[in-house]
Amino acid sequence: MNKLLVSLLLTMGVTGVAHAAGDATAGQTKAAVCGACHSPDGNSVAPNFPKLAGQGERYLLKQMQDIKGGKRPVVEMTGLLDNLSDQDLADIAAYFASQKGTIGQADPKLVARGEALFRGGNLEAGMPACTGCHAPDGRGNDLAGFPQLNGQHAQYVAKQLTDFREGNRTNDGDSMIMRSIAAKLSNKDIEAVSSYIQGLH
Ligand code: HEC
Ligand code: HEC
Repeated sequence: MNKLLVSLLLTMGVTGVAHAAGDATAGQTKAAVCGACHSPDGNSVAPNFPKLAGQGERYLLKQMQDIKGGKRPVVEMTGLLDNLSDQDLADIAAYFASQKGTIGQADPKLVARGEALFRGGNLEAGMPACTGCHAPDGRGNDLAGFPQLNGQHAQYVAKQLTDFREGNRTNDGDSMIMRSIAAKLSNKDIEAVSSYIQGLH
């Protein structure tokens, strides 16, 4: 088998083609408790609570499963997912994915550096451009498990990149994609690219 085919099969296996389809209408009711932090439509106000609106359905489901199972510890959500079934999680994922995400603003002083990293990566350090997986408009590629980033709170994005770099977030799979990328980002890089992402539209 050729390499491309093998990696395609792997991707399908990893993202799981066999989960139940989510029902967005049922999900809205089940997501009531989430609104306290993520806002009822998923466009959270506080910058440490991620926006879920418009995020990819598969990515949302994977994160909820990882949080529920302890692969991605989120103390603020302790116990919240314990009584939700796989179908509940799929419905909630479908609901937030169906909402329209809002966009914030980038700090004009950081745009040039942030855009250069996002679109060009860092050749010297061997770091690929973010656009390769998260797409030029930041919308990601849900089938491949690449999350949407555009409009996400800069503070949340910066925390994730730092967590990946310091090994505090480790649910990016055996290929360690995001851990190896974040390892090549300085604090200043993280600040700039996170601000750029917040305003990306
Ligand atoms: C008390 C506040 C709070 C409540 C309530 C809450 N969350 Fe969260 N949630 C968080 C925080 C904080 C994070 C990010 C943690 C981090 O920095 O990694 C998060 C992360 C997430 C993520 C990952 C987002 C991403 O972009 O990777 C998902 C999905 C999620 N929450 C779903 C839910 C669902 C579904 C509910 C309701 C059943 C819920 N949350 C209730 C605080 C909350
Ligand atoms: C080779 C593909 C690839 C490249 C290149 C890439 N990413 Fe990612 N990124 C991923 C995947 C896959 C995930 C989801 C990991 C998981 O399932 O938890 C992710 C997750 C993230 C997250 C967490 C999103 C959330 O909602 O919690 C952030 C932030 C992020 N990437 C930023 C970046 C930035 C900034 C760059 C460029 C410097 C970049 N990524 C380059 C594949 C990539």
